[in-house]
Amino acid sequence: MYTTDLSRVGKSGLEAPARVEPAALLEKFEARVAADDFIEPKDWMPEAYRRTLIRQISQHAHSEIVGMLPEGNWISRAPSLRRKAVLLAKVQDEAGHGLYLYCAAETLGASRDEMTEALLAGRAKYSTIFNYPTLTWADMGAIGWLVDGAAIMNQVPLQRTSYGPYARAMVRICKEESFHQRQGYEIMMAMCAGSPAQKRMAQDALDRWWAPALMMFGPPDENSPNTAQSIRWRIKRETNDELRQRFVDATVPQAQALGLTIPDPDLRWNEAKGGYDFGALDWEEFYAVVRGEGQVAKERMEARRKAWEDGAWVRDAAIAHSAKRAKAAEAA
Ligand SMILES: [Fe+2]
Ligand SMILES: [Fe+2]
Repeated sequence: MYTTDLSRVGKSGLEAPARVEPAALLEKFEARVAADDFIEPKDWMPEAYRRTLIRQISQHAHSEIVGMLPEGNWISRAPSLRRKAVLLAKVQDEAGHGLYLYCAAETLGASRDEMTEALLAGRAKYSTIFNYPTLTWADMGAIGWLVDGAAIMNQVPLQRTSYGPYARAMVRICKEESFHQRQGYEIMMAMCAGSPAQKRMAQDALDRWWAPALMMFGPPDENSPNTAQSIRWRIKRETNDELRQRFVDATVPQAQALGLTIPDPDLRWNEAKGGYDFGALDWEEFYAVVRGEGQVAKERMEARRKAWEDGAWVRDAAIAHSAKRAKAAEAA
């Protein structure tokens, strides 16, 4: 591993003498990160940094792709042509996000096949939120408002994450997530201004999605062992609890504007901290969903497996086509 690291340094053109101690490389790396420099694919990086990024970026990519399923399910049942077109555009954006992120992870040496196989074998995770079912049209509103809203809180700081390809992918993704959040909130506005039955559907969707959305930020900081290292390496810029607090503070007034009630009896404004206090979350449920026991986890993986198997002929055809072109170029 040591030699590999050094040979990478040689190839990257970093001005490293032939026999540099890794401590010196590490020190240089840490100094660059601390100075908010971007680390690029050919730069030397510690293996733990590379591995953490592959895990985080591929998990993020899987979440975008699996995240297409709950909403894709509603495209054919959207209540108007306008709603259908907007939802279709949103779901297509998520496919794009997945693709940018798989590409960013590939720059770290992970292949797309490896990442997909890890997902389908259950070794790689994706966001727990997508293992909850979407029961009514109001869920499309709640998902855009809360799930994409939480994604924005998570992703805005990642535009300044230390790994260049990841940070740059985030810039475009965040712009599109803002559109997603607004389309969801707009659905909620329409339903809350509609009939009493529609307003009840909106409240029911908020009741079901609120706690899972808060869990999207991950376990509390004291149970998040990798956070300190990730913050030092600027892979993460803020802790799970900081981001969760910011999300609650931003979202409560939005629920009030809709005339909806946040399903948390412990929620109250705390003047001293300038934010809301909120009730404890059911972390047992979170860990169960992480273990693959979510309500629709099996269906989600079956859908992904089927898509991967159905697409095999496309991958084979693309490989055969490029081999043909290479042969033709050789002959010319
Ligand atoms: Fe996305
Ligand atoms: Fe989104």
